[in-house]
Amino acid sequence: MTTKNELEDFTLVIFGGDGDLAMKKIFPALYYRLKHGQIKAASDIIVVSNNKKTSEDFRTELRQNLLEKLAKPKKEWITALCNITTYLEIELTDLNSYIPLKEALHKAGQEHVLLYYSTPSSLFSMISSSMYQHGMITNKTKVVLEKPLGSNLATFEEVNNTIRQYFQERQIYRIDHYLGKETVQNLMVLRFANHLFELAWNSQNIDYVEITVAESLGVGTRKGYYDNYGALKDMVQNHLLQLLCLVAMEPPSILDADSVRDEKLKVLKALVPFDKTNVQRRTIKAQYTRGEIDDDFVKSYQEDIDGYNSNTETFIALRTYVQNWRWSGIPFYLRTGKRMTERYSEIVINFKHVPHNVFPKRAAIDRNKLIIRLQPNERIELVQMAKIPGPGGYRYKPISLELDYLASVGKKFPDAYERLIMDVVRGNQTLFMREDEVRASWNWIHSIMDNWDATNQELKLYQAGTEGPGDAILKEGHQWNKMKNRTT
Ligand code: BG6
Repeated sequence: MTTKNELEDFTLVIFGGDGDLAMKKIFPALYYRLKHGQIKAASDIIVVSNNKKTSEDFRTELRQNLLEKLAKPKKEWITALCNITTYLEIELTDLNSYIPLKEALHKAGQEHVLLYYSTPSSLFSMISSSMYQHGMITNKTKVVLEKPLGSNLATFEEVNNTIRQYFQERQIYRIDHYLGKETVQNLMVLRFANHLFELAWNSQNIDYVEITVAESLGVGTRKGYYDNYGALKDMVQNHLLQLLCLVAMEPPSILDADSVRDEKLKVLKALVPFDKTNVQRRTIKAQYTRGEIDDDFVKSYQEDIDGYNSNTETFIALRTYVQNWRWSGIPFYLRTGKRMTERYSEIVINFKHVPHNVFPKRAAIDRNKLIIRLQPNERIELVQMAKIPGPGGYRYKPISLELDYLASVGKKFPDAYERLIMDVVRGNQTLFMREDEVRASWNWIHSIMDNWDATNQELKLYQAGTEGPGDAILKEGHQWNKMKNRTT
């Protein structure tokens, strides 16, 4: 299996490697890949940060963190990971401070160096230029960039230009962790390895498409960041648009990085931009108020951010169209929010109604739905009409044909970061965003942000623990698939 392939040894330098993301995602991913034999003792991990601590201090922190975070931690593998990890205290804004890193890279002796920027993007420029001035960037160096890459098109271009001064596009890996999720990759297999679905995948057969990424969590510890971004920039600009691309793109001629990214780019460019008139009808932004989730009281957004009177949206729903031959006139509904009923992400393909009802009583016939549940309980459901057994004529109701993806594969899915980090090691950019994709998505997001500003778009309120006020953008006869009390 490809996941078990042996990979070239490497040195991974994680800037900001003692931060939240590294502890929650990067190190657990490295642990599992080491346990599965993909990372060997000859590889090195160098954590770089400006916090005062020694390698031993960091290893103690790391050990503790893994023992807490992993489902079934094994001490031998934690020790093995600690043994290849060192910590360097470096003031990232001071050129001279990088000298120990140069020595450490020299000592490691690897040609294959991965730089992981897990810091605010405001530091990317300084880190890159320092690495360059010390001769630590070669043709073989790869750089991994965490979101957010800017907060609008102009700031994205700034960050991107900085990076492009030191790295070629083939060396850059812009992470969108949604692309690393197994269920998201399965979407490509579902579409392109099954004749049946691809035949029906167009405006002749599909009525509308829903993409929902709901979270029950609030802003947590990321108040400062989130309040500057809001749901549109935090979730739609990247994750939801990437999902939309995978649903709507044409089959690439081959599944390689540029062919896939070329097709996604065409979708992003075909999205109808919003204007002052339709932004009001086709988008809703809202913020959560106090409520209850799983019988627990939860505070309002204003309270979560310490009482500051903020206009940041924690929920957005929108209706958009992909202007091309395949999708002409078909609404794509996107919806995401914090503090909703539950953590729940799905793509629902709603097929058209049958053209004629042959049954004598003409009871309503629901449309078929293909539900692709991304998380939790990853599964695919095909909702179809079936006869209710018994005499007395034809009575029917919708039932679900379910494929429990997790159970059918029979093992735990690797976390998105495991796949993505190993793809960087392998040099496979298919699941990373190319600069023109990010540019196109910011362009389209601007048509929402700018027209919200120009029209003073109302910020609605929704009670925490509900599905949010997403209904007003729906066309007649369309509905969101219900979150609670759904069939599964
Ligand atoms: C991140 C956003 O990119 O994705 C967060 O910044 C959000 O606000 C998170 O909570 C959701 O990721 P997941 O994998 O938990 O669905």
